[in-house]
Amino acid sequence: MRVVVVALGKMGLPLAAQIALAGHDVVGCDVDERVVGEANAGRSPFPGEAGLDEALEKLVATGRLRAQTDTTAAVAEGPDFVLAVPPLMVDADARPDWRILDSVVADIGRSLRPGTTVSFETTVPVGTTRKRIAPALERASGLRGERDFFTVFSPERVYSGRVFQDLATYPKLVGGLSEEGERRGIEAYSSFLDAEVWPMGGAEGAELAKLAETTYRDVNIAFANELARFADAARIDVGRVIDASNSQPFSHIHRPGIAVGGHCIPVYPRFYLEGAPDATMPAAGRAANDTMPAYAVERLADLAGGINGARVLILGIAYRGDVKETAFSGAFPVRDALLASGATPVASDPLYSADELSALGFEPWDGSQVDAVVVQSDHREYAALGPADIPGAKAILDGRGVLDAARFARAGIPVRRIGRPDA
Ligand SMILES: NC(=O)c1ccc[n+]([C@@H]2O[C@H](COP(=O)([O-])OP(=O)(O)OC[C@H]3O[C@@H](n4cnc5c(N)ncnc54)[C@H](O)[C@@H]3O)[C@@H](O)[C@H]2O)c1
Repeated sequence: MRVVVVALGKMGLPLAAQIALAGHDVVGCDVDERVVGEANAGRSPFPGEAGLDEALEKLVATGRLRAQTDTTAAVAEGPDFVLAVPPLMVDADARPDWRILDSVVADIGRSLRPGTTVSFETTVPVGTTRKRIAPALERASGLRGERDFFTVFSPERVYSGRVFQDLATYPKLVGGLSEEGERRGIEAYSSFLDAEVWPMGGAEGAELAKLAETTYRDVNIAFANELARFADAARIDVGRVIDASNSQPFSHIHRPGIAVGGHCIPVYPRFYLEGAPDATMPAAGRAANDTMPAYAVERLADLAGGINGARVLILGIAYRGDVKETAFSGAFPVRDALLASGATPVASDPLYSADELSALGFEPWDGSQVDAVVVQSDHREYAALGPADIPGAKAILDGRGVLDAARFARAGIPVRRIGRPDA
């Protein structure tokens, strides 16, 4: 096949490589000239994707993969299959900002030729493929959808850092807007993936499957958080309770924690709710998880005997450990809850410079005395911290359970975890 892949980000570029490794001719398109330049030089524009550098070097040398900035020109060459995974940005309330996705659809539509199958992989609210993407492709191309060209949806379900591994193992879900479109989509994906390709009987099923698996995680974590709050009040160790429950094969309770952040898990339940505004569980899960940063600060205040006037260190502003990303990070509500309690928050994160911390609205910690600490990110290196690294700390709320609590306890510094009243 001749394939065009649009948006060469953390998802799109490894996918383009996967397709080219299977023997297809791939043109990758991205508006970012640096990304295009690096890809054409056989190098990954971003670090941390296992196997990507090696794959790109080989593919560029053999000419199977090349990159360019002009999507419309690439589609004008008449590929058999166009795959697009542009980001869908959201506002502070996780409402979609359609501008990038719409412009990618228009760029493809302008030069779309009869016979092409177009697949979108960006996570979207249910109905987006049928009601937004396909009509816009028709308007821009003047062609008739599901007769002259075909539109399918196939959610991107992989985890950045291990995309090739996940592509090889997770079933690929494909839904079309017609039987013929879905059949063509299945055929295209089967030609470059070793994993099973599952027909979803329509684009809406494929869209909902992605929202269901991510909303499930949010709701599950919300339940773990509620258990933890109950355990705190009842003086029960929730970690032991969850381990015990999960020793039976029908129980899969996740872990409680200070916050659910990132581009996906806090966002997709809201996409789900766009189509199903009366659904109670996604809304309840979101509400429960949103209370956790302030709850963690309350627990710290309780442990410290009050934090009014205290200088409190937030350890980690990244939404999760070892990833330089602050989208919907719990660090923001933790900072706000500390301010509301009369404390002065300062912040530190090994992945962010002092200037970057300031730009994100945090006062960078200079290593001087603090009164108390909230651990917000589970950066691996925090496991090695000891009392000497945090001078003055008299109470610590470890929101992720990463510190070596015994080391602090020996120095008389109590470390409390969520749902672990005695830890
Ligand atoms: N990152 C993940 O772990 C992950 C996991 C599952 C699903 N997804 C889905 O994949 C989507 C993309 O995620 P990502 O991590 O690859 O994003 P990313 O931010 O790494 O990359 C997006 C790329 O799109 C390019 N781009 C922006 N506007 C463009 C345009 N008009 N034309 C062409 N290229 C354009 C950017 O330059 C960038 O290179 C997400 O929105 C989400 O729906 C991501």
